[in-house]
This record gives sequence, structure tokens and C-alpha cells, in this order.
Amino acid sequence: LSLFRKSYPLTYYLKPTFVMRVTVSRKAHFNSAHRLYRKDWTMEQNDAVFGKCNNPNFHGHNYELIVSVTGAINQETGFVVDVKILSDLIKTHIEHAFDHKNLNLDVPDFKDLNPTAENIAVVIWNKLRPHIEAKNDLEVVLYETPRNFVTYKGN
Ligand code: NI
Repeated sequence: LSLFRKSYPLTYYLKPTFVMRVTVSRKAHFNSAHRLYRKDWTMEQNDAVFGKCNNPNFHGHNYELIVSVTGAINQETGFVVDVKILSDLIKTHIEHAFDHKNLNLDVPDFKDLNPTAENIAVVIWNKLRPHIEAKNDLEVVLYETPRNFVTYKGN
């Protein structure tokens, strides 16, 4: 019974014997136009592979983005990452670069890269990675439509 009466300081219970890794996510949104095609293929080849997405006059999507950072909780702040800082990073590096833009024509990253959801997710990850602490993991989920989405974790 004495075991249960003894009071331990709160930190005794909170001090982990393992590191608590938590994922923090931020949602964002941008509207962009694109065309899926290869410049080195004929119109017939592009139509066969990309169908309506090869429309020469482009088409648009309402992209939904989820950026997730996984890491240990900072014992001083209680944060893995300050979500305000994460939100600002997404605004500066992704929304300002992509929103209301034609990805093929306006965004240099896609000058010679087909702007598929897969490639857009990789470009987003590469833009954000230098701004995320090296010890933390970064994951990008990109919805091109409510039903179609891709995930990139950097490997
Ligand atoms: Ni499309």
C-alpha cells in the first residue's frame, strides 16, 4: 500500500524511456492549370497515354495539400514543429509559386517536367525539405481530385 501512497513528481511519469515521435500536419490549397504531355511525343501518342489531360488549352484542378512533419516532441515547447512556421513555409514556397498559375508555363520547375500529381508532390517536397529540421521526417500528400491523391516521403 505504501507504494501507492508515495507521490512522485509529475516529470517522473512524463520522462520517456523512448522518444515520443508525433506527426504534425497542415492542410493547404491551391488552384492551378496544367497539361499532361511530352513535347517529344506526337499528339496521337500523348492522347493515347494522357487522354483529356493532353488538351492543348490546359485544364484546372483544385489541389488539396497535406504537409506532415514527424519527429520528437521538443521537451521545452511541447512542439514537434511550430505549425505557424509550417503554415508560413507552405504559403511562401508553394501557394505563392503555384496558386492561380499555369504549372507548365508559369512555374520553372515544370518547364521540362510533366506536371502530374506525382511530379508536383516531389517538387513540393523538394521545396520544403531544406526548411524542415533535418532530424524530422517530411511527408507530402497531394489531392488532385477528392478521390485521387499521391504521397511522397522522400524515398
Ligand atoms: Ni489534370
